[in-house]
Amino acid sequence: MPPGNRPSERHRVRSVPPAEPAARASGERGEPALEARGVSVRFGGVAALTDVSLAAHPGQVTGLIGPNGAGKTTLFNVITGLQRPDHGRVTIAGRDVTGLGPHRRARLGLARTFQRLELFGTLSAAENVRVGLEARGSRRSTAGARSGLPSGAAALLERVGVPGAPDAPAASLPTGSARLVELARALAIDPGVLLLDEPCSGLDDHETAALGKLLGELASEGRAVLLVEHDMDLVLQICDLVYVLDFGEIIASGTPDQVRNDPAVQSAYLGRVERSDERAGPVSP
Ligand SMILES: Nc1ncnc2c1ncn2[C@@H]1O[C@H](COP(=O)(O)OP(=O)(O)OP(=O)(O)O)[C@@H](O)[C@H]1O
Ligand SMILES: [Mg+2]
Repeated sequence: MPPGNRPSERHRVRSVPPAEPAARASGERGEPALEARGVSVRFGGVAALTDVSLAAHPGQVTGLIGPNGAGKTTLFNVITGLQRPDHGRVTIAGRDVTGLGPHRRARLGLARTFQRLELFGTLSAAENVRVGLEARGSRRSTAGARSGLPSGAAALLERVGVPGAPDAPAASLPTGSARLVELARALAIDPGVLLLDEPCSGLDDHETAALGKLLGELASEGRAVLLVEHDMDLVLQICDLVYVLDFGEIIASGTPDQVRNDPAVQSAYLGRVERSDERAGPVSP
């Protein structure tokens, strides 16, 4: 059984406060802030991504879900320039960035957090955020007007929910706080496109609900938020559009309701673990 079919990772059921995707989703979507077209990546005999295309629009939270090993992080690496695709293109606000390195893309307003935390462990929370703030000055604007983000490290940390972060090294922070510090660092460049790779991993229910609310606000400010997350309750409640990856291919995309009821999605999550008590589906809150 592939690791992604471990039921324990696919059945977190918890109540999350209602989001307001309808308000964000209304009106014309216009040009995507981020687009991946026909992306393929092979690692030796493993087809990590096959002809994957997706778009993320300003003002929306776009979800990217799929079992473990589906290719979600690989796609983030392609989008951010850490992984060269065998085929396919990536555009940011209509500009083809396929040949650009990660720093050039960051200067165009692309920011991310990592599934495996990538904080500077010996620096404090505020110092980590200041690294991002230094990059803000050099970056060019991309996907439309945005507002709402403070320009100081302490205020950014407060915005993500870790006020008064200690001066202790980031390596000593609990995982949940460290993830939020990483988010604050990503926000420091005032990104037009924000990629989050399992940001709720290590967060408790209260922190997860608060983060869901924050992501909605960040989208409302005109950002395109692309969210990889195994917490289906959160994804289905805060996302405007959801893409589903399975074995490196997009098998479905649509609104949370469409995805929740898609037989291919249910099969991807359940088909290899046919147990009668799981038939209600992992994507049903
Ligand atoms: N650097 C690499 N070298 C070889 N294989 C890799 C590499 N990175 C990823 N893979 C393989 O590519 C596939 C996709 O991995 P990826 O990490 O993108 O999946 P994922 O959807 O992010 O999974 P998870 O939910 O567990 O984070 C897996 O089969 C993985 O083992
Ligand atoms: Mg991953």
